Amino acid sequence: MAEELLIKSQDKEGRYKELLPQIEALCLESNLTARMANVAAALRMTFGFFWVGFYVVGEQLILAPFQGDIACTRIAYGRGVCGTAWEKGKTIIVPDVEEFPGHIACSSLSRSEIVVPIWSEGKVIAVLDIDSDKLNAFDETDARYLEEMVKYIYKN
Ligand code: SME
Repeated sequence: MAEELLIKSQDKEGRYKELLPQIEALCLESNLTARMANVAAALRMTFGFFWVGFYVVGEQLILAPFQGDIACTRIAYGRGVCGTAWEKGKTIIVPDVEEFPGHIACSSLSRSEIVVPIWSEGKVIAVLDIDSDKLNAFDETDARYLEEMVKYIYKN
């Protein structure tokens, strides 16, 4: 696939709809790190999010490919938004990070956040974390499309 994205829609749902098949094509790559790297870049290019990246499950969550400022490298099970999404196995939308008990602030500029677990064989093996510098940036539309999108990360 060509190393460029084609996104024409101005609205969020339209952008996700156009992006989804392009993510599918990018995820034909056999290497997991390369897939994560391009998915992070494609999301940042399409939506201009402040920070987009992955944490992979080990003893803790370990920082994986991302786009944005440097970030915390390790997050314990059940800690912060990412560790909570890992523990609960559910997408978490945080409209205001200051209202989320235990939120881990990698950047003081982050105002809202969404974390989507990635599954393989019944286990959470990574999470996708997206931060916005605006309050209330994420809703059920983001959750729905991002949950579809991360399935391609593990389709190979
Ligand atoms: N805010 C996250 C930490 C990761 S950074 O946002 C990149 C959390 O509370 O888990």
